[in-house]
Amino acid sequence: MSTPLITDDVRECARILSAGGLVGVPTETVYGLAALCSNDDAVRRVFSAKGRPFDHPLIVHVDSVDRARQYGQLNSDALALAECFWPGPLTVLVPRTDQVSDTVTGGRDTVALRVPAHPATLMLIDLCGEGLVAPSANRFGHVSPTTARHVVDDLDGLVDAVLDGGQCSVGVESTIVDCTTEPQVLRPGAVSDNDIADCMGRFPVSPTGPSRAPGMLASHYAPDTHMILADDRHAAEEIARSRQAAGRRTRIIGADLVPTEYAARLYSMLRDAERSGIQDLIAVLPHGGGISVAVRDRLTKAAAVPRD
Ligand code: TXA
Ligand code: MG
Repeated sequence: MSTPLITDDVRECARILSAGGLVGVPTETVYGLAALCSNDDAVRRVFSAKGRPFDHPLIVHVDSVDRARQYGQLNSDALALAECFWPGPLTVLVPRTDQVSDTVTGGRDTVALRVPAHPATLMLIDLCGEGLVAPSANRFGHVSPTTARHVVDDLDGLVDAVLDGGQCSVGVESTIVDCTTEPQVLRPGAVSDNDIADCMGRFPVSPTGPSRAPGMLASHYAPDTHMILADDRHAAEEIARSRQAAGRRTRIIGADLVPTEYAARLYSMLRDAERSGIQDLIAVLPHGGGISVAVRDRLTKAAAVPRD
């Protein structure tokens, strides 16, 4: 396959998907690698393009609560969350219907559903007339993409087109809430525990038992650059001085960014450090709740890869 088409032609992308192709699609969180939910061959190619294990299930992206009901049994908690946050950066985990194949769910009896807040992708789903599976459009374990160019950088030759919807506004993956039990947050995102409490009148409980979202690995979202976490700017500068004295090329990120901007730029900054040959990337951890929780989660996972 030649270099994929980067396009803003939604109809062309709908044709490619309907013919069984794979398309990189914009969302407000990160770009996804989309295929028709009903086409098992195309869904399998999504796993192989990413190098993702088949037991890491995919999120089904829909354009309405009505379409979500085709794929999952939304109970009152899931419906309340959908009402508060869709379209937006929230995924609900609910029991699946027989419209979802084992390939999508990794044989699980649950399905992850979300309505993304991006007009081009909502139009694409409408044109396709069905849900689209879409994991983040990166090589397995690598940093998620937040521009169309990032998708091509990771998946050139493996994706048929990328729908260019500009830079993702949120920048970190959706909050995943398991609604099959008392609601639990399986992955933090822009929708915080406080937001969920404001919506439902109660806080989500702490996740219990073995990780219910395979893919929530200790090391993930990682750039090919050694990362060091610092509690504040002062600590980051001290680390930078000592690493530079040892002859290392260093860079500090996050010292001057408010949390929403830190999230929006995080993955671009990680990819840029890789490209620039930075040897030690020192990330200042943001403090507090809200989206800072998600940024800390991703930074901790990015730094958990032993490298040097
Ligand atoms: O913001 C997002 O959610 C992005 C954009 C593209 O929508 N998508 C995304 O997909 O982050 P992915 O595949 O990279 O992460 C989805 C996570 C995985 O950890 C997966 O294991 C979990 O959701 N998941 C999906 N379906 C599941 C299921 N039935 N049971 C448990 N976990 C599930
Ligand atoms: Mg991912």
